[in-house]
Amino acid sequence: MSNPQSKWTDGSLAPGESESFSGSVSCRHYGQAGRVTTRETLGRAVRFLREKEIESPRLNAEILLGHVVDRPHSHLCLESHRLLSISQLAKFKRQVVKRSRHEPLSYLIGRQSFVDLSFVVNSKVYIPRPETEILVDEVLKLLRGPFLHAHRRPLIVDLGTGCGNIAISLARGMPEAIVYATDISAEALGVAVHNAELHHLEDRVVFIKGDLFDPLREENLAGRVDVIVSNPPYVATPEIESLPPEVRREPRIALDGGKEGLDFYERIIPLSSRFLRRGALLALEIGHGQLEKIQHMIARQEDMEPVRVVKDYQGIDRIVLSKERVRREG
Ligand SMILES: C[S@@+](CC[C@H](N)C(=O)[O-])C[C@H]1O[C@@H](n2cnc3c(N)ncnc32)[C@H](O)[C@@H]1O
Repeated sequence: MSNPQSKWTDGSLAPGESESFSGSVSCRHYGQAGRVTTRETLGRAVRFLREKEIESPRLNAEILLGHVVDRPHSHLCLESHRLLSISQLAKFKRQVVKRSRHEPLSYLIGRQSFVDLSFVVNSKVYIPRPETEILVDEVLKLLRGPFLHAHRRPLIVDLGTGCGNIAISLARGMPEAIVYATDISAEALGVAVHNAELHHLEDRVVFIKGDLFDPLREENLAGRVDVIVSNPPYVATPEIESLPPEVRREPRIALDGGKEGLDFYERIIPLSSRFLRRGALLALEIGHGQLEKIQHMIARQEDMEPVRVVKDYQGIDRIVLSKERVRREG
């Protein structure tokens, strides 16, 4: 096998197995005993990623290297003369090559932060997005405010939980809450269970495999749920092919919302009333341009009333909050 330091490879994940993209490196680039420094390695990775038109090449390279050497990436500049071992360098190269092929950074490092927690992710789960943090914040604000009677233990349902980021963040933010989280993907649920254990919340977050509300029917939750929350797949099928290559690496089942991206809302909104108690909350993340149609779906439910629409960091309508009407007696 060739020396992993001798060249960076592009056509193969194993160093030295295919064409070089930056040529061989002369000895003067290396530190003692042929080992190379953090700064030199980073510089070459940044150039390579830039050539491959990866956005933010320096940050990507630093995060990958930090992951390989098990150091916070922000410390690397303070350790620029640190020498990498041959195995670290080989591993880093493999990661950089994968990143150059648009494998998401979060899959490569196996982690994504969400709210203030770190979640394990892999290619079987959707990568949590900052917009979804707004959904969690809004639900927590309402739960902690006058929305619920202070003495109640809120019962929360998260539909399409993925790696469990919403369910786990809500359970952590509401120490009394019980969260039921469903997903159709057994592989995603495996990751979610692992995340709940990592955050010591497995006693208050119940993961169940199945289609949206289906697995809840046996849980005797009808009319008892305080919050239904969901960030369902909402990309219109024809738009999937034009998504950035990184996003297309995520599970299609997590993206595809049907012809107009609205299939899941058409199912979730009418069924929610069966599970929500009077005055309880339905909180949905929605896609760009979907607000009007979703508001119409909600308006068609005689038991539901709108609460609020919240924009994301780009000013796009992103979160729709509505609640189960409290009927006046008599
Ligand atoms: C956009 S991802 C959201 C993941 C996570 N809740 C988040 O917000 O980051 C949608 C999730 O819905 C799940 N899903 C797709 N179809 C489903 C169905 N019929 N029933 C339950 N979950 C489904 C996918 O597996 C995926 O995990």
